[in-house]
Amino acid sequence: MKHILEELEARRAGARLGGGEKRIAAQHAKSKLTARERIEILLDEGSFEEFGMFVQHRAIDFGMEKTKIAGDGVVTGWGTVNGRPIFVFAKDFTVFGGSLSEAHAEKITKLQDMALKNGAPIIGLFDAGGARIQEGVAALGGYGEVFQRNVLASGVIPQISVIMGPCAGGDVYSPAMTDFIFMVRHSSYMFVTGPDVVKTVTNETVTAEELGGASVHTTRSSIADGAYDNDVEALVAMRRLVDLLPMNNRAPLPEIETDDPADRIEMSLDTLVPDNANKPYDIKELILKVVDEADFFEIQAAFAKNIVTGLGRIEGRTVGFVANQPMVLAGVLDSDASRKAARFVRFCDAFSIPLVTFVDVPGFLPGTAQEYGGLIKHGAKLLFAYGEATVPKITVITRKAYGGAYDVMASKHLRGDINYAWPSAQIAVMGAKGAVEIIFRATNGDADALAARTREYEDRFLSPFVAAERGYIDEVIMPHSTRRRIAAALRLLRGKSLENPWKKHDNIPL
Ligand code: HXC
Repeated sequence: MKHILEELEARRAGARLGGGEKRIAAQHAKSKLTARERIEILLDEGSFEEFGMFVQHRAIDFGMEKTKIAGDGVVTGWGTVNGRPIFVFAKDFTVFGGSLSEAHAEKITKLQDMALKNGAPIIGLFDAGGARIQEGVAALGGYGEVFQRNVLASGVIPQISVIMGPCAGGDVYSPAMTDFIFMVRHSSYMFVTGPDVVKTVTNETVTAEELGGASVHTTRSSIADGAYDNDVEALVAMRRLVDLLPMNNRAPLPEIETDDPADRIEMSLDTLVPDNANKPYDIKELILKVVDEADFFEIQAAFAKNIVTGLGRIEGRTVGFVANQPMVLAGVLDSDASRKAARFVRFCDAFSIPLVTFVDVPGFLPGTAQEYGGLIKHGAKLLFAYGEATVPKITVITRKAYGGAYDVMASKHLRGDINYAWPSAQIAVMGAKGAVEIIFRATNGDADALAARTREYEDRFLSPFVAAERGYIDEVIMPHSTRRRIAAALRLLRGKSLENPWKKHDNIPL
């Protein structure tokens, strides 16, 4: 018996070495951790239960029958994050460059099936060279099986991808269908075709970093939701994110203890909005003062900064925040901001995370670039997302809520549950200057007449009270009591029950 136990230990030790010490050293030399080191940081200490440690590929072409490595380039299993189970797979770049074979794909799909059946989140750590070239179509089939499961799991369990090295070819599309993608700066990149193919096809010369580095994907393409300086930072952040998420779409919101009183008053909010309506202020200050312990996990912080999205907690329970940011482009809604926020709203709705929306929006961004770029369709995405969401929706208008953007930003008309406005709110079709120039054109540039009309318009419309008179605003509240008001509203809405009409699925303007 003893020698059988020893053989198991020896086999395990071999498998843990993956592609061998030399390749592990090369991995470390690139400031990258190995697959197993990553899993150790992601999960609670000692909680990892591995599956498929001895799986090998079955390829026989190109001499592959002579090179079999236990695990076949991906480490799979489950463990806990602060006591709650999650499934994890980590590509092992030291084994055939982490490339995906048929057997490697089967390890991942087995895990996806288990995660779905058991209603727990799944995290993939990517560091790989795409399809196992020696396996040909068997690898392509394997990718297809993974993709199909990503689709079926979407909206049922949270799926998160962390890109920690190369991620090319077939490897990009599985992350693309997950809820969130995070990257590690300078050591990771994502593209469908690499610099060599790009050079051949389009004659462009680019580096991997320029083509698909973290900077590109967090600021330009919006493929990635955030980036971190190194593997450890990224993995620690993922623990923080997982803590905020429900286990699945039928599970309750996670709730943690907090010492932050729900009725905390923030007097500084009374002076957050400047007297001059054209002056910016930082909406993140409001978010940080409203959430528990100023703890806010921002999503897509570097993209479309004119809108802020992210997760925080109130009374220990997760809340999704969407807020126009007056500091950037005056908080205007453009195509990028609309797409960014729409996707976030749909994520929250899918997982029953209540939405709190802070509104200070001068409207949609005018111009040919926006119109040619499909502003109508992209703006409609956010409108659609808010309109279909059945989670508790609480809205606070801090300043401007102009035009169509007023309707879009979780207004009463889109089934906003509780709609508050600060006394500084201005709810109107447009700002005073534009409005007066149109409806009083007949003044023919008479400056005094225009000024009088402008004052008249401002007095009548640029306040929360016309909307409040109609019941579009439930209450005009003191800025300093915003947290207390939202906390009470969220408590009330815990029992909210609202269903959309039955349908196979909707037809959101993609
Ligand atoms: C088999 C692979 C591999 C692959 C890398 N390796 N990619 N083995 N299939 N796709 C192996 C290498 O042979 C090498 O083995 C080890 O992994 C490390 O690779 P290096 O090239 O030495 O590493 P590095 O210089 O860091 O470059 C990493 C890389 C490069 C940029 C990822 O390896 C690369 O370009 N690989 C090919 C990428 C690719 O074209 N994949 C197919 C995409 S098509 P040894 O034994 O020397 O350590 C695709 C289609 C699917 O995925 C579409 C589905 C929709």
